Amino acid sequence: MAETVLVTGGAGYVGSHAAALLVERGYEVVVADDLSTGHRAAVPPAARFVRLDLADQEGLQGLFRAHRFDAIMHFAALSLVGESMKDPLRWIGDNTGNAVRLLRAAHEARVGRFVLSSTAALFDPAGDRPIDEQAPVEPQSPYGDSKFMVERILYWADRILGIRSACLRYFNAAGAHPVGHIGEDHRPETHLIPIVIEAALGKRKAVTVFGSDYATPDGTCVRDYVHVMDLADAHIAVLDPLRHRSVRYNLGTGSGHSVREVIRAVEEVGGRKVPVELGPRRPGDTATLVADPAAIRRELGWTPHYPGLRAIVETAWRWHEKHPEGYGPPKSPDSSRPAIRP
Ligand code: UFG
Repeated sequence: MAETVLVTGGAGYVGSHAAALLVERGYEVVVADDLSTGHRAAVPPAARFVRLDLADQEGLQGLFRAHRFDAIMHFAALSLVGESMKDPLRWIGDNTGNAVRLLRAAHEARVGRFVLSSTAALFDPAGDRPIDEQAPVEPQSPYGDSKFMVERILYWADRILGIRSACLRYFNAAGAHPVGHIGEDHRPETHLIPIVIEAALGKRKAVTVFGSDYATPDGTCVRDYVHVMDLADAHIAVLDPLRHRSVRYNLGTGSGHSVREVIRAVEEVGGRKVPVELGPRRPGDTATLVADPAAIRRELGWTPHYPGLRAIVETAWRWHEKHPEGYGPPKSPDSSRPAIRP
């Protein structure tokens, strides 16, 4: 019988791609999302959708009464690094509180496998060496620390309650499903690749390069862009080892690309010039942030199917070209009423 996976935040960017891949691989999928930032249309039609805020204890209990889950993938979280610097208590309170409520429900329902959408933002990115799992943890924002706190909670949930967990620290999630029916649609958009594509498509005047005087080969910041389908694939790859042990992995390709390289890749894929402006550095940015993904390669044989910038940009371009308005205009207030339909 197919296993059933609960995907919280499955209407969001990475969560919806994981939900899609789970469905493609034959899993039963239940998506729980409050649609505060996610999009209903991003949820695969074959998945069950439950509109739920994880702070709603009763709703959560109802969800676990209605379904028997074999594993949980937890994507739902506040994820804007910059905003977390303005409202630390909200970011930390929501992200840890929701994780604890979810884990309590998991424990009561005897769900023993939990995959956390974690982040490279829990490392201190000083230096330009690829970051492995032994690198010192030194979150530079309440967002990064909230994820690390959840990792610590998971440590105790494993040790005392026997809930096995995988903490997957993503570097720069990018790209879209190869079919082009789901993709990245943050409001407002802050991420580089969608912004560059929007500039190429004439949807914004230009892309501003945040700093061109970094100690990198071309002076612009270097990041490890990892395809969202490869991230989704890693979430599924850990399900089997989670039967026996907890794991934590840094998820990137191991190769960095500069802002200028991203712009060039978009120009090549789109066949048009991208209007560019040079701007000052963005506070909090670091010159280089690249993963050392050797551990997950060695232990699980996970390796990116979209290792190059071009393949990543091609899928992102397809999504943006087919969906110039993303998932469309915001829903009317009436249709945003919570409706719990397990
Ligand atoms: N950038 C620009 N112009 C823009 C937007 C971005 O030059 O308009 C630059 C940034 O300065 C940075 C690079 O492009 O050097 C990538 O920026 P993103 O905002 O796309 O991504 P970040 O590296 O800042 O952050 C991402 C996620 C975070 C996560 C972090 C961890 O957005 O949630 O990676 O690696 F915490």
